[in-house]
Amino acid sequence: MQQDVFSQVPANRAPIPFEADAPFLKVVGELPRELNGTLYRNGPNPQFEVAGAHWFVGDGMLHAFHLENGRASYRNRWVRTPKWKAEHDAGRAFFGRGFGSKLPNAPAHLTDGGVANTNIIFHAGKLLALEEGHLPTEIEPGTLATRGYCNYQGRVAGPFTAHPKIDPLTGEMVFFGYNASGPLTPTLSYGAIDASGKATRFARFEAPYASMVHDFIVTENHVLFPILPITGSMERAMKGRPPYAWEPEKGAYVGVMKRNGKPEDIVWFRAEACYVFHVINAWEDGNRIIADVMQFEEAPLFPHPDGRPTNPDKSFARHCRWTFDLTGNTDRFQQTYLDDLTGEFPRVDDRRAGLKTNHGWYACANPRLPMFAALSGIVHVDGAGKRLGHYLLPAGDSISEPVFVERSKDAAEGDGWLLAVIWRARENRSDLAVFNATDVEAGPVALVQLGHRVPDGFHGNWVGAA
Ligand SMILES: [Fe+2]
Repeated sequence: MQQDVFSQVPANRAPIPFEADAPFLKVVGELPRELNGTLYRNGPNPQFEVAGAHWFVGDGMLHAFHLENGRASYRNRWVRTPKWKAEHDAGRAFFGRGFGSKLPNAPAHLTDGGVANTNIIFHAGKLLALEEGHLPTEIEPGTLATRGYCNYQGRVAGPFTAHPKIDPLTGEMVFFGYNASGPLTPTLSYGAIDASGKATRFARFEAPYASMVHDFIVTENHVLFPILPITGSMERAMKGRPPYAWEPEKGAYVGVMKRNGKPEDIVWFRAEACYVFHVINAWEDGNRIIADVMQFEEAPLFPHPDGRPTNPDKSFARHCRWTFDLTGNTDRFQQTYLDDLTGEFPRVDDRRAGLKTNHGWYACANPRLPMFAALSGIVHVDGAGKRLGHYLLPAGDSISEPVFVERSKDAAEGDGWLLAVIWRARENRSDLAVFNATDVEAGPVALVQLGHRVPDGFHGNWVGAA
């Protein structure tokens, strides 16, 4: 059933079978001297490939590009999750194609299928590999060695989103989890970790239905939980049908809560069905909340409940603005597309997270190419979604999420660099590309050349040298 949806696998999705250290990489152009630190990236890289396995279930592999005084080095390591270690010791796969599905010959005691493959963030002195089904996995920043799960002195339990938000004003990290009372349940958790790494809040509540909740929205005073109809169903899963499926008739819900409020005070807003993996940014504007998201008309990568794929002509994300009226006049929220360009993996200057932003960037498809399978450019937009710059790669190449790095701590919003990994199709290897964030159209100012490729991954972050 599911493999029909994933039959067109992009060329750079296959895993690489090794870990490496490259102390001196060739740099084309000149690396900006302000860039002192490490870009960490994460993505699925199955240790043992399982035919037809969903892209999302591959073991996490970390890629670290360390930049210092114009020089570049690289290191990659798998995250040593319990699953990875058990499979490594046995020399074979124990988990199958789906989410947490074990193969028949797997040891009974092995129940943790966590892959820690989605994001890597730095908060309160800890580098954390994240994947939404499990707790954060702490990573040693220099060696990329795995330290193990982080549960904040036992105060946090269950699934933890790969997209927590770090408040730039307070340093607080706000997070949620879905499937919080077990697989395919409608329970969400919500919590916060303060700037010193102490859990200050942890609560659970029921959403309108069980769904895959990849990202959420945090502003200065509010938190918003999108419940969108990639539904989860244990009943389906037990019958061997898709555990997650596209059910647009359920509609879209977004729960709005005060950050210091209680789950029972959540106000649910409604709209037509859509799907969003990623929020660009959101902010408060008087009695309104504005949230810019990359919205799909129909969910990609997941089938209908009967296994049929969703409509490929509608399974593309575009920059869309959601508007919530907090005056109580309506329980509907507005959805307005700001561009027709296909894009994903949006980022902002994180010093403006949750605040009005005037710059955003995302990876985009090349509208001049017949195939939209790969993200092959970068677009820079202003606070109204208007394109300020647009760079397209040579045909065939593809690009990762672009990560913004400010030029200095007090540089103006958007003044800095974009770091993205580009796959060079013809040479079958990857470059770390550095763009001037306010002039992406000029192309990369520097390329750090790897001898191998970094498979298509998900997310990463820059950690500046202390
Ligand atoms: Fe994501």
